[in-house]
Amino acid sequence: AGAERINTEIVTLTRFLTEEQAKHKEATGDFTLLCHALQFSFKSIAYYIRRASLINLSGLAGSSNTTGDDQKKLDVIGNDLFVSSMRSSGRVRILVSEEEEEALVFHENPHARYAVVCDPIDGSSNLDAGVSVGTIFGIYKLAEGAKGTKEDLLKPGTDLVASGFTMYGASAQLVITMKGGTVNGFTMDNGVGEFILTHPNMIMPKKRAIYSCNEGNSLYWDEPVKAWIDSLKYPQEEGGKPYSSRYIGSMVADAYRTLLYGGIFAYPADKKSPKGKLRILYECAPMAMVFENAGGQAVNSKMTRMLEVVPEHIHDRSGIFLGSYEEVQKVIDIHKKHG
Ligand code: AHG
Ligand code: MN
Ligand code: MN
Ligand code: MN
Repeated sequence: AGAERINTEIVTLTRFLTEEQAKHKEATGDFTLLCHALQFSFKSIAYYIRRASLINLSGLAGSSNTTGDDQKKLDVIGNDLFVSSMRSSGRVRILVSEEEEEALVFHENPHARYAVVCDPIDGSSNLDAGVSVGTIFGIYKLAEGAKGTKEDLLKPGTDLVASGFTMYGASAQLVITMKGGTVNGFTMDNGVGEFILTHPNMIMPKKRAIYSCNEGNSLYWDEPVKAWIDSLKYPQEEGGKPYSSRYIGSMVADAYRTLLYGGIFAYPADKKSPKGKLRILYECAPMAMVFENAGGQAVNSKMTRMLEVVPEHIHDRSGIFLGSYEEVQKVIDIHKKHG
């Protein structure tokens, strides 16, 4: 009996990483230190996002990036925070960011063995509306003797050692997965300033009648994509119920909902964007690994497994279908039928 007991079995991200490292006898601790630097960048980006409209940090920076996006002030701030935390971690050799034209090589870390790809603020067009945005990241381990050039990053997503994202929503939600591992979700507890494990071993529903895409692009879609969407909206089978549509316009928020509720997110390549809109290195591949490790699947507009797609350049784009296993399978089957 005695005093009311509280739950003391709290798994912070820090404890989770320590326990993960203990599973790998050969671990040097470099990956763990890199993840601590990652964790700090999420905390500091969250801080600025939540204060932006109070300290005149909303709106445009007045510049645009290599992929032609108008940069928001927070795109630039998020990028600068991320770059400095990766550089100062001493564990990253090379970094690709949506907001940097060239890969950043950290000459001060000549023996660092990791490469990081990142989308510092995903969904930034939504920022001024107060809608959830996020940060997407991927971690590659450099091959022995790698010189630390951008060619070290033109790899398929199957080479990722870890990937994930943080969504700055009602609370900051971090989702991380290691190669061949489980998917684990953490919620920021601002009271103690720690990410707390709240969604261990995330397994997504095999199917769910929710689709998520920008139907404003329908005019530009290929026939198989139109046939697929119509099969969801106007079901032919007896008693079939139409799917529900949910589209936020921030990939991280649409992906997080899809991961939790099931369904499918799609940004197909089309006549307007023949290579698709989303970038392979820091949007499609990291998300594909999270979804595959949660039991879902991800393919490009040619129905190729997303994780096997090799980017031609660091800002290369791809169409993407990402979601519950059976929902993506429907897209694949319809594309097969259309030959
Ligand atoms: P970013 O803000 O990092 O440039 O990414 C925006 C992307 C992605 O978040 C979202 O799924 C997609 O753009 C939305 O595009 P549309 O506005 O064309 O639907
Ligand atoms: Mn952008
Ligand atoms: Mn993005
Ligand atoms: Mn972005």
